[in-house]
Amino acid sequence: MKYLATLATTLLFAGSAAAFDCTDCHETIDLTMHTESEATLATCADCHGIDEAHTIDMEMHTPELTITECADCHAMEK
Ligand code: HEC
Ligand code: HEC
Ligand code: HEC
Repeated sequence: MKYLATLATTLLFAGSAAAFDCTDCHETIDLTMHTESEATLATCADCHGIDEAHTIDMEMHTPELTITECADCHAMEK
């Protein structure tokens, strides 16, 4: 649970700024591979348990967003 508390604190800190960097916590995301598999927000959950770890605000995001659009706002590569 300590890890989750740390995670919550990190998200709170990030909350005041704009979008945060995915790479703060994740390995570099392979955008080429994800583009080839035509990943959009609607399909992330087909391959990942993204909903279990993150609650994505659907007033700010649409299901059609592609992975390269994600990367415009969230740093996904180091
Ligand atoms: C137009 C800019 C923009 C785009 C494009 C965008 N996001 Fe976001 N996203 C944000 C902002 C702003 C927040 C809120 C940041 C905060 O709460 O600190 C956010 C929050 C999130 C969160 C955090 C939810 C949480 O609190 O744990 C996740 C995960 C996320 N986005 C994933 C994605 C994914 C996946 C995509 C592409 C399908 C995407 N975003 C595209 C701007 C964007
Ligand atoms: C504050 C740390 C943190 C940030 C920032 C963060 N994540 Fe996560 N994410 C986690 C944790 C913790 C998990 C659950 C453990 C795991 O599966 O790695 C997770 C899980 C995920 C998963 C499911 C993993 C899987 O393979 O099933 C996806 C997909 C994901 N995050 C995407 C994102 C995206 C996209 C962003 C940037 C918008 C982001 N995360 C930013 C901490 C973070
Ligand atoms: C066709 C299946 C597929 C789809 C759809 C997909 N991914 Fe992935 N993703 C993978 C594979 C395979 C990897 C590399 C292996 C791994 O680390 O799980 C990966 C790796 C990742 C990672 C880095 C590894 C980690 O867990 O830290 C993140 C973050 C991620 N994907 C986010 C997303 C997001 C956001 C979406 C939706 C826009 C998405 N993925 C859609 C298959 C997929």
